[in-house]
Amino acid sequence: MAHEELVAEARQRIQEAEDSAQLDAVRVAFLGKKGQITLLSRQIGSIPQEERPAFGQELNAARESVQQALDERRRQLEQAEEQARLEAEKIDVTLPGTVSAAGGLHPLTQVYHEVRDIFVSMGFDVFHGPEVELDEYNFEKLNIPKEHPARDAQDTFYITDDVLLRTHTSPAQVRAMLNGEPPLRLIAPGRVYRVDEVDATHSPVFMQLEGLIVDKKIRFSDLKGTLNAFLRRYYGPDVKTKFRPGFFPFTEPSAEVDVTCTRCGGKGCSACKGAGMIEVLGCGVVNPVVLENCGIDPAEYSGFAFGLGIDRLATTKYGISDIRLLYENDARFLEQFS
Ligand code: DAH
Repeated sequence: MAHEELVAEARQRIQEAEDSAQLDAVRVAFLGKKGQITLLSRQIGSIPQEERPAFGQELNAARESVQQALDERRRQLEQAEEQARLEAEKIDVTLPGTVSAAGGLHPLTQVYHEVRDIFVSMGFDVFHGPEVELDEYNFEKLNIPKEHPARDAQDTFYITDDVLLRTHTSPAQVRAMLNGEPPLRLIAPGRVYRVDEVDATHSPVFMQLEGLIVDKKIRFSDLKGTLNAFLRRYYGPDVKTKFRPGFFPFTEPSAEVDVTCTRCGGKGCSACKGAGMIEVLGCGVVNPVVLENCGIDPAEYSGFAFGLGIDRLATTKYGISDIRLLYENDARFLEQFS
């Protein structure tokens, strides 16, 4: 076959190669060891001497021309492959991102943190007692002996005769006094348990925060000042507070404290049952009997204590009408607090 035809055929097949593997096959077919152009060059010995230079030149030109076409086609294919890769990897940076739902702190945790921060800023330590507690600490040392009517108000989940789920955070006081020396100034938060039917205002598990100060010359006025300062910081400076006489076996005298109903501002509504005020805590001067039960000399020391309902602080501040919302973990409710 003449050179020109060979070159023309090679060029045609090069153009038709669709990827680098096909292109390589074409290269081998023409320029490889047994390729058609290579084989042609071996014929040089069999042609007359004087024609050889011309033959050689034509052959070189043919080889170069094919090589050029190969290079050219290779570049084209590489470009096309690059283009296809870019196309496949294309990212639309204008698309909106995927939003992943992030959790938030539960409203009760948020309220606890707020309350804790206020008391810590007033110099209180944070103390944690166990939820599974001894009857002795939950009741006996707090001056609530067996058969005491106060036990009826706190219907108890017993684990054994002596072990129970704490019905209030007050046993943390006992532990703090047994384990430490006055002066004591602490808060003790946590879950408490009572046998109770669930309804809008009752739950068998809820959250309390206990407070205790034991030092020399602590009086009821210290209690009043401290709690008023706390309630003003938590509810705002305009909140009104009312200390009503109350009864708790572990404090004497005792009081229950009401704050202005945040729903109606004191006018009276369904949330406060027309009273304009809502009870948020119990408190009092620590009963000397309790100090003595916990190894502290009541002739030298006195103290005050309080127990507030975290749930109550949350429902009153945020206008939550049903305590069940705080325990059902419905995301539509919880999202409003994050
Ligand atoms: N433990 C009481 C309750 O659960 C609340 C309480 C009242 C705690 C008076 C106190 C206190 O420390 O002094 O109802």
